[in-house]
Amino acid sequence: MTVTTTRPQAATATAARAEGLSKFYGVDEAAVWALDNVSVGLQEGQFTAIMGPSGSGKSTLLHMLAGLDRPSSGEVFLGDVELSSLNDKQLTMLRRDRIGFIFQSFNLLPTMTAAENIVLPLRIAGRKPDEHWVASIVETVGLSGRLGHRPAQLSGGQQQRVAAARALASKPEIVFADEPTGALDSSSSAELLGFLRNAVTELGQTVVMVTHDPTAASYADRVIFLADGQIVDEMHTPTADQVLDYMKRLGA
Ligand SMILES: Nc1ncnc2c1ncn2[C@@H]1O[C@H](COP(=O)(O)OP(=O)(O)OP(=O)(O)O)[C@@H](O)[C@H]1O
Ligand SMILES: [Mg+2]
Repeated sequence: MTVTTTRPQAATATAARAEGLSKFYGVDEAAVWALDNVSVGLQEGQFTAIMGPSGSGKSTLLHMLAGLDRPSSGEVFLGDVELSSLNDKQLTMLRRDRIGFIFQSFNLLPTMTAAENIVLPLRIAGRKPDEHWVASIVETVGLSGRLGHRPAQLSGGQQQRVAAARALASKPEIVFADEPTGALDSSSSAELLGFLRNAVTELGQTVVMVTHDPTAASYADRVIFLADGQIVDEMHTPTADQVLDYMKRLGA
């Protein structure tokens, strides 16, 4: 049975896209093509997972899409904005106002409570949190009883859920997560992934997540497979077993 599909996506708006995106590091013989002519669109209100062997370019693709690093060639669009048209200050503002990030290490401030950590980026940006929105995120992420705790008083899974709530607090157009479950045990992973899934299904959030874990990928609507800096395949509404089988064939 083949599980991949070439069926075109339903015509929905694209939250972010790459056109002919390439990135190389180093020079001459030492040059590494981390990304090689990648074109991909990420639909609004979808949960997309990016998978592939170590070194296949997953983090590089995420960083380019999120405006954290600049491409060697090609274009990245967030909505209608082409990122290379922005100077560094404009790019920083765009990241702050329109993009959310979740990293493998939670990056919470230890002296602040969970509640303070969640709204910190908004406060730094001088924006007033939308109380109703923040309350709905806190409820969806299941942290209501933990808001007064500091990171050290929370489990790793709870800390990562605080980091996820923080990423969503500014109502970003898109949330990028690079191996957000990499440091979590399986039950904490399931809690975080359930939150991301709910954020997409119930709050209409757009999420793009790099993962090595087929179970994590099975929470996504779509899985994109990278190998040697190129997109080699994709799957829609996959099961963990289908993803695992495919990863074995890729030699990951
Ligand atoms: N700053 C850098 N300088 C030089 N080479 C780099 C740099 N960042 C990444 N690379 C190279 O680019 C390629 C892709 O790296 P990338 O981090 O995107 O892979 P990945 O798929 O995220 O891997 P992993 O699963 O191990 O996190 C690798 O060959 C890597 O060594
Ligand atoms: Mg990586």
